[in-house]
Amino acid sequence: MKVARFGFVALAGAWLLLVTATPQAAQSKTTNDGIFSDAQVTRGEAAYKKDCSSCHGDGLEGDGFAPALSGSEFMSAWNGTSVGDLYDRIRISMPPSNPASVPAQIKVDVIAFVLKTNKFPSGKADLPVEGLKDIKFDLPK
Ligand code: HEC
Repeated sequence: MKVARFGFVALAGAWLLLVTATPQAAQSKTTNDGIFSDAQVTRGEAAYKKDCSSCHGDGLEGDGFAPALSGSEFMSAWNGTSVGDLYDRIRISMPPSNPASVPAQIKVDVIAFVLKTNKFPSGKADLPVEGLKDIKFDLPK
């Protein structure tokens, strides 16, 4: 009985952790969990063409000056980080001339497009601006 009781307490503790999740909470989701919607990818593609493709290329291939946002180099650079890390990179420094010119939600839409282009699966819901640090950047399965 002692073991069963401990199991219950551990479960209750895990549940508490979940409902009181802080930004530092353990990463529960990954880029393979269908974290963005197809509609968001479409919006993100339009925003990418407007604000990013002049440097990063129509096919995310880069232009020699700006790095590619797809392919093995990009993927291995971000593998093991979080979607929040990628978002922060874009939030703070992209587009270089005026990072504040593109609103947060649109930058997240662009991330959905970038992830889709890199063969991550889409899901039902949009990727929100909040909680991105809790989503681990894993290579596609
Ligand atoms: C004026 C050209 C230009 C535009 C426009 C631009 N970028 Fe960049 N981007 C760069 C350059 C150059 C770098 C690498 C050096 C640096 O970080 O400044 C870079 C780096 C990045 C990186 C880091 C890539 C890596 O793997 O290290 C990401 C992600 C990125 N850009 C996303 C975006 C997004 C999303 C947009 C549109 C909102 C955008 N950029 C618009 C030039 C540009």
